[in-house]
Amino acid sequence: MCGIIGYVGNNNCVPYIIDGLKKLEYRGYDSAGLAVLQNGNLVTVRAVGKVAELEKATLIANPKGTTGIGHTRWATHGKPSEENSHPHTDCTGDIVVVHNGIIENYLTLRAKLEARGHRFKSETDTEVIAHLIEENLLHVRASHDQDRLLKAVQKTNKEISGAYAYGVMWARTPGLLIGVKKQSPMVVGVGKDENFLASDVPAFLKHTNKVLFLEEGDVAVLHVDGVTVLDKDGKEKKVKPVKISWDQKTAEKGGYAHFMLKEIYDQPQAIEDTLRTARTDFGKILGLDTDGLRQLRNIHIIACGTAYHAGLVGKYYIEQLAGIPVSVDLASEYKYRTVPQLPNTLAIAISQSGETADTIGAVKKAKELGFRTLAICNVLGSSLTRTCDSTFFTHCGPEISVASTKAFTSQITSMYALAAFLGQANGNLSQTAFEKLYKELLALSKDMGEAVKLEYEVRHLTRKIYKADRFIFLGRNVNFPIALEGALKLKEVSYRSAEGFAAGEIKHGPISIIDKGTPVIVLMPHDALFEKMLSACQECRARGAFVVAVTTKAGAKMAADVADQVFIVPQTNELLQPVLDVVPLQFLAYWIAKRLGCDIDQPRNLAKSVTVE
Ligand code: G6P
Repeated sequence: MCGIIGYVGNNNCVPYIIDGLKKLEYRGYDSAGLAVLQNGNLVTVRAVGKVAELEKATLIANPKGTTGIGHTRWATHGKPSEENSHPHTDCTGDIVVVHNGIIENYLTLRAKLEARGHRFKSETDTEVIAHLIEENLLHVRASHDQDRLLKAVQKTNKEISGAYAYGVMWARTPGLLIGVKKQSPMVVGVGKDENFLASDVPAFLKHTNKVLFLEEGDVAVLHVDGVTVLDKDGKEKKVKPVKISWDQKTAEKGGYAHFMLKEIYDQPQAIEDTLRTARTDFGKILGLDTDGLRQLRNIHIIACGTAYHAGLVGKYYIEQLAGIPVSVDLASEYKYRTVPQLPNTLAIAISQSGETADTIGAVKKAKELGFRTLAICNVLGSSLTRTCDSTFFTHCGPEISVASTKAFTSQITSMYALAAFLGQANGNLSQTAFEKLYKELLALSKDMGEAVKLEYEVRHLTRKIYKADRFIFLGRNVNFPIALEGALKLKEVSYRSAEGFAAGEIKHGPISIIDKGTPVIVLMPHDALFEKMLSACQECRARGAFVVAVTTKAGAKMAADVADQVFIVPQTNELLQPVLDVVPLQFLAYWIAKRLGCDIDQPRNLAKSVTVE
């Protein structure tokens, strides 16, 4: 949902900005722009479309300078056009602003500023920030321009409302960048004689892994030789840089055609890395002693998109292993429904990015209701981790493709570890049962290594079915959320119509949409429900469906009798099976999208982290 990068140092900032924007492109790709301070003048280049278009335009304009900012946009206010692309300027053209988020009171501010003679050039909410700073520069007092700009920014922050992060540059202050963070992501990269402002770490990871995580309301002042952070009241504060262990290579495609494909293949490693910390004292993380853990009576899981599907799987885990009732809500629904204020409730928010506005909003509500809150999150220092009482981190490295894959399987893995811990802590699981479950969990990474070998077979199959208009995914029990996820994945990247259903439910309506040749993908590991799934396959086939079965070795022969194609995934325990079952579905989505010529890593209309409501 918009990506920001800023550079101040001794080198030409343009390559840093273009490269940073490419790393941030997953956040939005309607249009992009940059501004460079060149010999006391601001040179701005903007282009509709992807960063590649901006790169072309920048090669022609060829700006050079050591201070600059850039932006890749996901339109909220105003259509994707050059006028609406960032950076936005004030009336003088000497102040430039890049922004992520929404300025909620922009209409009132715009009217006031227009009445004072300011001329607006775009339909965006962002432009009010540039004009407000211009206006405030007239009213603040300071001994030098750098301090004046800072004071004008601080005054501006008091006037704007909403969730935002923005970066500012002024033609009169070379070597200075100011960044503001309020409920939208912004981090600072600390390098040697160069510093960076960005929406996310991969934007500068190539140059430094030292990161300052800003808190809500913080203002970062970046010079070539240092960074100062001020809190929302303008008081200077010490922020210690955190060394990020992400390898730069994990933010690169590494020879794969797309990030999505690379990230599917990253899954064995992602699971292994997540498991390294999964056998932990969640009680300590949650701040609950044995009694506190035994007293937990309700768990609310809140999340969006793919993370919501991980939450649905988590419900089966916690209810079965720990015997605690769980409700799973889409974060955007949780916020607006009446949630009974019951004691001993734990709210778990699942999010890859930790920046999803709906999820953060839902957590705030849970906190207001007095619930303890836990984040399952992949991004250190993200807003969600700051909002929740505590966090368990998935360790899958940066996920760049908009369609989530490795974060999903890492989230499920984490939920399993949490459920097993809770079960052991409240006595629902014996120590022996716990150890057995854990042993199976530890083998998961190896099984995942086998599951990804299915790509070739899946790819081959997609040749037969990629032109279908609609796809159906069926699952039961713990595989039902996987059917939903398979359909979501396919929709996201191929724009095909796809729906996931509980297999037992198709006879109550959905079966009517099955026609001759409709691909129906059935998740049917050889478990207690296998026979019911065989019947579901037969029911679909009798209506002309092209049935694709995802099963385990023990079910392969029987599945072959009722399906047109069978994929065999490695067998693990019943609860963990979804982690492996989803893999052929990820490949299926990828290869159908590829054959249809879709933009796989950056599907139309989507953004990886949606930082607006
Ligand atoms: C967006 C993305 C989805 C993602 C969802 C939740 O809608 O397009 O792919 O699942 O956000 O993201 P989160 O970062 O909170 O897991």
